[in-house]
Amino acid sequence: MIAVGRDLDHDGDAMARLAERLGLPFADLLDPNEVALVLEYRDGRLSVSDRRDRRARPVSVGIDRVLQRYASLPAPRRGALGRAIGKRTRTVVDATAGWGADLGLLVAMGLRVTAVERSVVVAALLADGLNRLRHSTNVRGRFRMPRLMVADAIGYLADSVDAPDCVYLDPMFPPKRKRSALAKRPLRVLRELVGDDDDRRRLFASALTAAGKRVVVKRPDDAPPLEHGADESYAGKLVRYDVYFTGRERI
Ligand SMILES: C[S@@+](CC[C@H](N)C(=O)[O-])C[C@H]1O[C@@H](n2cnc3c(N)ncnc32)[C@H](O)[C@@H]1O
Repeated sequence: MIAVGRDLDHDGDAMARLAERLGLPFADLLDPNEVALVLEYRDGRLSVSDRRDRRARPVSVGIDRVLQRYASLPAPRRGALGRAIGKRTRTVVDATAGWGADLGLLVAMGLRVTAVERSVVVAALLADGLNRLRHSTNVRGRFRMPRLMVADAIGYLADSVDAPDCVYLDPMFPPKRKRSALAKRPLRVLRELVGDDDDRRRLFASALTAAGKRVVVKRPDDAPPLEHGADESYAGKLVRYDVYFTGRERI
């Protein structure tokens, strides 16, 4: 289970408020064998530490670091993701924000992005990462600050009034046996926090109705598409972006 840690270098009241808001217990009040993951501040970053593996580095949202990688912003839309998003796209809903890695790439491309995340724990990590981005002096004024919505994107998209040009989806999938052994730590931690997104096809349907122009779905390179009938596909390193244009008959 996940619990909140009491940090020596962080305001105790703030941690108590965080624990209450997220409905999480404090780790030190539990049997240590019950606590696998701990939410705590490490080097000023809200992070998830794995108590079962002391050598493992804590995981936090690194969106500030993603943007700092670029010498100039906005970044050109050249790679597989950029081509899948399309040159004319201006507004994107990243409906599965997770660790915010893709969100960082979308923001770097100069897009106006709304990030949606339904796990309150993951959303708290994202909010912390976005706060760092807001105060990051290296990139200040060179990107549009994304908006974070803590919501189920299926309902959020159904209720949205202004259609975004693009809805971007990267739902969790059950791991393949071979892959799971190799899966990167952030993804493994995320899977422990949120499980598999079994309603991903409903999310796709909602995205296709809500998007003004296209839905982009990220998939492992060797996995079948989330839905058949993709209009375009762009292969990246170990992943593929399937593009579905809106307003087309799909059988
Ligand atoms: C594979 S992760 C996304 C990783 C992300 N693209 C990144 O670059 O870090 C999937 C995330 O989407 C969230 N998610 C899945 N379905 C959702 C939905 N219907 N509404 C909101 N969030 C959703 C999950 O909670 C999880 O955090």
